[in-house]
Amino acid sequence: MDTRNNNDDNLCTDDCDQESGLKDEESAKAEKWKKHYSSKRKILLVGEGDFSFSLCLARAFGSAHNLVATSLDSHGDIGKKYCNGVSNVLELEERGCCVFHGVDAKEMSNHFFLKTQRFDRIVYNFPHVGFIYPENSHSQIQLNKRLLKSFLANAKALLKKDDGEIHVTQKEGDPYNKWDLVKKAEKKGLTLLHVEPFLKDEYAGYDNKRAHGKLSDASFPVGEASTYKFKLLTSNTH
Ligand SMILES: C[S@@+](CC[C@H](N)C(=O)[O-])C[C@H]1O[C@@H](n2cnc3c(N)ncnc32)[C@H](O)[C@@H]1O
Repeated sequence: MDTRNNNDDNLCTDDCDQESGLKDEESAKAEKWKKHYSSKRKILLVGEGDFSFSLCLARAFGSAHNLVATSLDSHGDIGKKYCNGVSNVLELEERGCCVFHGVDAKEMSNHFFLKTQRFDRIVYNFPHVGFIYPENSHSQIQLNKRLLKSFLANAKALLKKDDGEIHVTQKEGDPYNKWDLVKKAEKKGLTLLHVEPFLKDEYAGYDNKRAHGKLSDASFPVGEASTYKFKLLTSNTH
C-alpha cells in the first residue's frame, strides 16, 4: 500500500481537485445533445403524460434549466393517472425545470408565464384529445384536427423568430394522416423543414402514455411514427 503523504502529494491532490472542479464546471456548461435536442436550446414540452420524455432530456443534459415542461393534467391527476408521474415531476424540478400543469395547448400563448417567454423548440409528442369517439370516426378526427390547429397557432406565437422549430411526433397511417398536420401548419404560416422517423428507443426512460381512461398509465405501440419539424415561413435559417 502506498502510504506517502508528503506536501508535494497534497499539492498535487489540491491542484487535481481544482482542475477537476473546473472541468466539472466546463462540462456543465458544455452543449449536450439528446437526438436533435440541445441543452443550449430553450425547449417547451407540451401535452406531457408522465413527464418521462422531459426527464429523459433533463438527464441527458445534466440540467433542466432550459426546459419548461407542461401537462393538461393537474398535478393531482398526474398522481392518480401515472405511477411515476409525481416522482418524475419532482426530479425535473430538482434539476431546475419549470413545470406547469393545467396548460391547454389550444390557449397556451395566453398562459401567464409562457406568454413572457420565447422558445427555440416547442415539442408535442403524440397529440391526442382522448378516446371520445371511435378513433376512425369523423367526429374523433375533427377533434384531433382542432387540437393540432390550435396548438400550432399557439406554438407559433411562442416561438423564437429566427430559428425556432415546432416538433410534432405522430403515428403514420390511417387515421392520423387524415389529421392534415402539414396542411394545417402551412395554413398557419409554418413550413415543413424535415420529417424524421421517431424511434422511442433513442429516448431512454421515455414511456409514452395513453393518458386517457382506465388505461391512462399504459403505453401504446408507437409503431411507425415520425417527428415533423416546422419553422416559421419567414425564418431564414436552414
Ligand atoms: C396520447 S397522449 C401522449 C402523452 C405524452 N405526450 C406522451 O408522449 O406520452 C396525449 C396527450 O395530449 C394531452 N392533451 C390532450 N388535449 C390537450 C390540450 N388541449 N392541451 C394540452 N394537452 C392536451 C393529454 O393530456 C395527453 O397527455
